[in-house]
Amino acid sequence: MVFNWNDAKRSAGAENDSDVPLEYRYQLLIDAVQDYAIFMLDPAGRVASWNSGARKIKGYAADEIIGRHFSIFYTPEDVAADKPGRELVLATTQGRAEDQGWRVRRDGSRFWADVTITAVHDSSGALLGFAKVTRDMTERMRLAELEHASEMSAQMQLVREDEQRRVARELHDDLGQQLTALKMGIAALEPRLASSSSDQQAGIAAAGELQRQIDSMMASLRRIAANLRPPMLDDLGFSAALEWMVDDFSHRFKVAATLRINIDDADLTSFAATNLYRIVQEALTNVARHAQASEVVVEISSDANLCTIYVADNGCGTTVEDAGKRGSFGLLGMRERVRLLRGTLTIDSAPGKGFRIAAQVPISAIRPDETPPA
Ligand SMILES: Nc1ncnc2c1ncn2[C@@H]1O[C@H](COP(=O)(O)OP(=O)(O)O)[C@@H](O)[C@H]1O
Ligand SMILES: [Mg+2]
Repeated sequence: MVFNWNDAKRSAGAENDSDVPLEYRYQLLIDAVQDYAIFMLDPAGRVASWNSGARKIKGYAADEIIGRHFSIFYTPEDVAADKPGRELVLATTQGRAEDQGWRVRRDGSRFWADVTITAVHDSSGALLGFAKVTRDMTERMRLAELEHASEMSAQMQLVREDEQRRVARELHDDLGQQLTALKMGIAALEPRLASSSSDQQAGIAAAGELQRQIDSMMASLRRIAANLRPPMLDDLGFSAALEWMVDDFSHRFKVAATLRINIDDADLTSFAATNLYRIVQEALTNVARHAQASEVVVEISSDANLCTIYVADNGCGTTVEDAGKRGSFGLLGMRERVRLLRGTLTIDSAPGKGFRIAAQVPISAIRPDETPPA
């Protein structure tokens, strides 16, 4: 085995670079490969050559591993089940064996490997050994798992929003109606109580008190339902609901608020609309709570690829550490919503310099599927 160009030249007795034979060039190429362990086994399964990639992935230096049986790379369970032996038999009879599974590094840690073992024969057909190529797929597997988890979490969020919408509607339509009916019933009792004897005056007062209690129950019910699901969003659509929210915010907190919006309600799934609405809502809540601002700008814009949500105030601002402090879930929640839409969230602030939030999400994550359901 040659490990560098000068080695190769010396071993080949070559004067010029161009005299280095192909065989050595291949050896150098194989050794240069870092992401694959590429090595040979003799017919009995003992390691016969080693490359840099193998050293990197498995952790053994060439002189530690050459001559050892390759079952050392397998887990004890696999060795007990003679998986290494079976793979060599398969490679011998079929020409090659492929496998994905856990393998063990020198330090005992495990990695997820993609393995190919190919039988190598000489010109007379006699088995010379096996070429083994192993790739460490651990990172890829983690990424795939993360993607899966993220899809699951988006799915759960979807189910949750649906459920909340249903509960909000039930609260409003069913319980709300019943409370209204109850209140009307009590109101109808009043004149009858009034026309009867004077000791009924206490009854009238009690009926009035009951009506006030029902009013307060109805207000609670509306508040709970609105928190579960912004009713504006269903009633008015995204743009109008946002206008209403920004307007209401401006009146309530005496902050001049500007809304610029250039996206069509029809271009948003209900999931995206809810998430964008909640992001702006949380950002405005923070302006009211922390900023002491006199102005805030909310902007929703889109081009062919991206939708950008921008909320900026001219208030007291904060440090990055403050915005990331433990126990604050508003910004975390915003990040999570943006992540569910496969986007990114950027926060830009400094003491005295206002607070700006920019969320960018790909259009493909918010647009309703154009293919009609089958
Ligand atoms: N518009 C803003 N102006 C100044 N500071 C802000 C603003 N928005 C957020 N912050 C800072 O970031 C922190 C985290 O915000 P958030 O996660 O929403 O938590 P909470 O509002 O519950 O404190 C706030 O406590 C505040 O210090
Ligand atoms: Mg907050």
